[in-house]
Amino acid sequence: AALGATPRPLAGKRIIVTSGPTHEPIDPVRYIANRSSGAQGTAIAAALRDLGADVTFVTGPASVPPPDGVDIVRVETARDMRDAVLNGLPAEAGVFAAAVADWHVANAAERKMKKDGSGKAPALEFAENPDILAEVSGMAAGRPALVVGFAAETNDVVAHATAKRDRKGCDWILANDVSEGTGIMGGTENEVTLISAEGPEVWPRLGKDEVAKRLAARIAEALT
Ligand code: CTP
Ligand code: CA
Repeated sequence: AALGATPRPLAGKRIIVTSGPTHEPIDPVRYIANRSSGAQGTAIAAALRDLGADVTFVTGPASVPPPDGVDIVRVETARDMRDAVLNGLPAEAGVFAAAVADWHVANAAERKMKKDGSGKAPALEFAENPDILAEVSGMAAGRPALVVGFAAETNDVVAHATAKRDRKGCDWILANDVSEGTGIMGGTENEVTLISAEGPEVWPRLGKDEVAKRLAARIAEALT
């Protein structure tokens, strides 16, 4: 390589990254969303790209723009995100940073819901969405060698995230405390603990870009 050239340890490696919120329709003009900006997933995709990876970026309707130099697949619902992820396989690694809605509206209306003058509010029914991280982690054939999930918690962060890692069967979980007052949800910084089979490793509070670079470097180490 030329003097000063950036090393590209992930050259030739395919990595899927999910990011952003999902939108779950109530009717054609209304939906249920969450506060994810997509900032952390976007930074991770960019950091993996910078190390040479071929990144497929499956994103819900995020408020930050997607990175350049990645394959962008835009989705709206969790069910669409699942299909896009399965279509994006095989890959050497998957990083599941999306804030996937846990439920969709089972009785979503095909036409705009109208007030009927009775003063009664409609009742929404919910059905559970597919768990993309658990499904990919559990694949009998074609599972990525490294599957990384996130766990946004508001209390007992390491205990909840460790249980989540066991339950879903992923290799690593990046856990964080998103309680109000931490400024993480929608902010520029993150404070994560990497939980692997070796246990928890606490990272300092860093910019989301720095968290992304650190994670990308760890992924490069694990895949090479
Ligand atoms: N995830 C996913 N598909 C879902 C829900 C979550 O792929 N339907 C992924 C997220 O992208 C994240 C991880 O699973 O990497 C953990 O998400 P989280 O919401 O913390 O986990 P849940 O199992 O939904 O548990 P909780 O009841 O705490 O929300
Ligand atoms: Ca959830």
